[in-house]
Amino acid sequence: MVESPPRQPALPRISALQRAWLEELGLDAPLLAPGLVPDDPPTVPSGRAARTGEATARVEDAGDHFIDVGPRHRAQRVGGHSAGADSRQRGGAEGEAWPRAAPAGELETLRRQVEQCRACGLCEGRSHAVFGEGVARAPDWMVVGEAPGDCDDRSGRPFQGEAGALLANMLSAVGIVADDQVYATNLVKCRPLGNRPPLPEEIAACLPYLRQQVVLLAPRLILAVGRVAAQTLTGSQSTLSQLRGRVHAFESPDGRQIPLVVTHHPASLLLQPQHKLDAWRDLVLARRAVR
Ligand code: URA
Repeated sequence: MVESPPRQPALPRISALQRAWLEELGLDAPLLAPGLVPDDPPTVPSGRAARTGEATARVEDAGDHFIDVGPRHRAQRVGGHSAGADSRQRGGAEGEAWPRAAPAGELETLRRQVEQCRACGLCEGRSHAVFGEGVARAPDWMVVGEAPGDCDDRSGRPFQGEAGALLANMLSAVGIVADDQVYATNLVKCRPLGNRPPLPEEIAACLPYLRQQVVLLAPRLILAVGRVAAQTLTGSQSTLSQLRGRVHAFESPDGRQIPLVVTHHPASLLLQPQHKLDAWRDLVLARRAVR
């Protein structure tokens, strides 16, 4: 009897635009080859247009759902950026009005408290407290990292440097436009010296600020990057790989349940690029959670 060769499973298809973004992310051909194949020739916008979402595009998440990525309105930004009036109401999952974020003044008051905070020893080594920055009213995504690094401490801004650039690329790979949709901050607002993870007592001292930021900003979704942020915000000691791949709920102090997705920290992805595909899947999950 002649044995027929084993059937190859059908490969999920991706668009050329998506492929261009994935390549920008560093998910290159050898990594993509086992799981993904392009479905049309690479005649898509790349570079700035692709990164900013200026072109209307569709991102297919290697399955049967599409996420529409069209040009977005400009939202109010704070933290080194202009902070004008913004009265938008966000639509929730069923089209209900998303709770309005607090007036910008309250966030600025909290920022000043953080800048003067001496609740833990990290204040001794800081050049700047890094409060956070981005869309201040009901951002689509609130990205929460671990702690500021050296560049962040010098500039007073979160996610500067190479890891921050990768994070921005990761977001744009799923059609999230950082300038229009994201607020970025950390569990702790002051840099731990020597780039060590923050200690539990430092996190505990700083967490009330983050919780207050959640109330004032009213994000639609929280993305926790890295193990420490993931464990702290889920209240679980499970590993990052156990926490990934599902949507958790973060209970905001005002009683709102905010969808929470966890993923790898961009700094760890720079060292372990083999996890980038998982990170991209996490961001697709997050994108779906608050469509
Ligand atoms: N910079 C940040 O702002 N957060 C991190 O977690 C790492 C670097």
